[in-house]
Amino acid sequence: MLKDRYGNPASTKSQTALAHYDNALDLIRVYRGDPVAALDAALAEDPDFGGAWAARAGLLVTATDKAYAEETTKSLRAGAASNLNDREAKHLKAAQDWAEGRYNDGTARWARIAQENPRDALAVQYAHVGCFFLGLQSDLRDVPLQALRAFKRGEDGYSYIQGMAAFGLEECGDFARADIYGRQAVEADPRDGWAVHAVAHVNEMRGDLETGIPWLADNAQHWAPDSGFAYHNYWHLALLHLDRGDIAQVLKMFDENVRPNPDAQIVLEWIDASALLWRLHLEGVDVGDRFEKLAACWQRAGEDAFYAFNDLHAIMAFLGAGRATDAERALKAMRAAAKDAGDNAYMTRKIGLPLAEAFVAFEAGRYGECVDKIAATRGVAQRFGGSHAQRDILTLTALHAALRGGMASTAEAFAAERLAHKPQSPWAGRLSRQARELSAKRAA
Ligand SMILES: [Fe+2]
Repeated sequence: MLKDRYGNPASTKSQTALAHYDNALDLIRVYRGDPVAALDAALAEDPDFGGAWAARAGLLVTATDKAYAEETTKSLRAGAASNLNDREAKHLKAAQDWAEGRYNDGTARWARIAQENPRDALAVQYAHVGCFFLGLQSDLRDVPLQALRAFKRGEDGYSYIQGMAAFGLEECGDFARADIYGRQAVEADPRDGWAVHAVAHVNEMRGDLETGIPWLADNAQHWAPDSGFAYHNYWHLALLHLDRGDIAQVLKMFDENVRPNPDAQIVLEWIDASALLWRLHLEGVDVGDRFEKLAACWQRAGEDAFYAFNDLHAIMAFLGAGRATDAERALKAMRAAAKDAGDNAYMTRKIGLPLAEAFVAFEAGRYGECVDKIAATRGVAQRFGGSHAQRDILTLTALHAALRGGMASTAEAFAAERLAHKPQSPWAGRLSRQARELSAKRAA
């Protein structure tokens, strides 16, 4: 019986197919190259290699883009008709759960595979990514921490799981340990953009620009080439420049690194682009036609109502581009999705929809409504996924709404919170000053 690079039994008898599959496992763990093409190469050698079909389906569903639905169905059908061992069959079932909107069930299934087969680093990673999309912060940390027991330090696989643990630790607030784990993982493989990213999050949460900017800028030659994830690490770097108030550098990075091809059809890239432009919009920066170009891309997914976190970011682009009708259409689709079955209905009903309404209210100048809706949702917003750094856009929007709406005490409260978390952050200092000035003006 053949085994994959981590020692898990594989349902193929072809050494060549397995070599392509092992290559795909490497590309997946470092988010590089084209892992779907590597899996297709494995399947060209052995079309009945069920594990490769299951891995393919898992990759496609965790892209959170309805555009991949057809390819997902193809993978699930072919996988079900091929050779599958018990572990691979469970992988396929997890991907099917996701494809049918049972995101929690699918993620839990991958996590259970990882518990039973801790050397299945792919199951660890898919569970980790699922936890990220669902905001399951302790599982995001604990699934990789559990699996580390099966690997020796220095062994193939160890550092990537350590990198995942680093991100989970960071999202759970254990910045010191996250920093150590992340740095050790990057030392083991400087290509590991996910581990680089975990340390970037630590720096972001601390508002530590002095460490954060060189950490990303000086290592980029290792993590960026051929990375399917580079735009996101560059987004983090742009955030730090924004913190410093260097708007020219932020716009340059948007054009060259976050959104180098304005027509690129990658939803996760659109999210970062929306999130960066909206922050600039809050700061009163003229972003030219960037919102318009982005909104033109979001249009094809604006009414998918596939995942509430994405929908909110589509609405940001529509609002920023002045496309009120598109924003309204997306809201309508979210209202319909909120009544559906499946996990996205809950995420939409409880989090995505009230937040989308808050952002629409902001743009319409209904600042009180915006603050009320964000304040009522922010505490549970992790349940629609994303990271603390991404969801910071909620607090920023509420704070700017309070500033614009003359709500001095509310603005001071949000600004004080920010400064307490990030005492070194120039941005936190600027917002705090603005809130104090508003207060003084109101008192006068
Ligand atoms: Fe991130």
